[in-house]
Amino acid sequence: MTAHTTSLKVDDKVIDLPVKEGTIGPAVVDIGKLYAQTGMFTYDPGFTSTAACESKITYIDGDEGVLLYRGYPIEQLAEHGDFLESCYLLLYGELPTPTQKADFDYRVTRHTMVHEQMMRFFQGFRRDAHPMAVMVASVGAMSAFYHDSTDISDPYQRMVASMRMIAKMPTLAAMAFKYSIGQPFVYPKNDLDYTSNFLRMCFAVPCEEYKVNPVLSRALDRIFILHADHEQNASTSTVRLAGSSGANPFACIAAGIACLWGPAHGGANEAALQMLQEIGHVDNIPKYIAKAKDKNDPFRLMGFGHRVYKNYDPRAKIMQKTCHEVLNELGIKDDPLLDVAVELERIALSDPYFIEKKLYPNIDFYSGITLKAMGFPTDMFTVLFALARTVGWIGQWKEMIEDPGQRIGRPRQLYTGEPRREYTPMAQRR
Ligand code: CMC
Repeated sequence: MTAHTTSLKVDDKVIDLPVKEGTIGPAVVDIGKLYAQTGMFTYDPGFTSTAACESKITYIDGDEGVLLYRGYPIEQLAEHGDFLESCYLLLYGELPTPTQKADFDYRVTRHTMVHEQMMRFFQGFRRDAHPMAVMVASVGAMSAFYHDSTDISDPYQRMVASMRMIAKMPTLAAMAFKYSIGQPFVYPKNDLDYTSNFLRMCFAVPCEEYKVNPVLSRALDRIFILHADHEQNASTSTVRLAGSSGANPFACIAAGIACLWGPAHGGANEAALQMLQEIGHVDNIPKYIAKAKDKNDPFRLMGFGHRVYKNYDPRAKIMQKTCHEVLNELGIKDDPLLDVAVELERIALSDPYFIEKKLYPNIDFYSGITLKAMGFPTDMFTVLFALARTVGWIGQWKEMIEDPGQRIGRPRQLYTGEPRREYTPMAQRR
């Protein structure tokens, strides 16, 4: 894939560096030998110009607002397929045939129950624990419950661990929710599809029949498709880095969940809804827009801006449509939060500050309103993101582990601390 070389002048020395071309997107300069040739490192703490790996899974063109899973546009996958089809695609690289799809669905479905002893593990959490804290812990704990699938050198065990996580994540997420509201856990019911099963585990109670609403199930399934992967974002890079040391897959995914929790990443949907609630009324919008523009105020419009998208996030458009479908289905005509969201989006999109900085609504802007209308409390929003992103994390981890050239990830640093100094005995310190 090395197309040509480029030269770099470092002080008085000119060195040749290989340039690698991908199928689409920017080429990369391979600086692997830079230190050996110049004694210098590169410096890019936020990874704004650094490709950390090679990958065949997901492609984003942030300027054009394009997102492809294995080459297929997100809009087409969300319109025509279901979440497990996208899972298969992300993991294996091709859309499944009908037989492959049926087999995949069957295999995932047969892993939905969690080890019964995990129920007792859950009882150890405080009732008011944040469900993301419960997810980090319970997914990490899976390595203690399923240690027959932690040998990463065995392809069969890797496959079983992957299936277990994709299948059990909805069960664990629903358990985290049920536990927090003091209701009994609901076991999975395997004649339901993946997302309907999840809705039932969240909202059914043993004393009543529960009928899944197909419109809500389809909407949530689409939300899962939109969140399934997003190339080398912070949590995926965390999973890759954790996995690069040979850590077991459950531990790696738990690391990804921990990273996703932050408000600049997966926690933004929760933060976006809280912000809309805080704004409360369209009349208050100008005040918040002014705060977002004020350099001395740390406030940011949550649900706006993206490290990669400098255009409309293609997922946000689908999310907006899904939001309206859900509100219509539930007969929610006058949601004050939706009024605030629509007006905020309109004002922000016409404000020179947001136009110049290319700050467009991202996926989290409308997902909070949608999930709230479905009955999820705000602290479950990031859990749903984690559930959906699990397949992306696993696909990326699998790709890395299966690469024969894989090495441990070990960034270097620019040291700005004290140079060497001699130890001062305690008695001499003032
Ligand atoms: N509101 C107001 N100003 C903003 C915002 C915002 N939401 N986002 C960026 N800016 C400004 C920022 O102050 C900076 O201005 P200046 O150049 O004058 O210093 C400029 O835009 C560039 O921002 P940045 O922080 O350098 O950009 P970044 O790429 O490091 O950050 C981001 C990207 C998503 C963390 C940021 O836009 C943000 O904090 N947005 C709100 C949180 C959010 O919605 N996150 C969800 C991301 S999508 C879901 C996911 O993939 O996890």
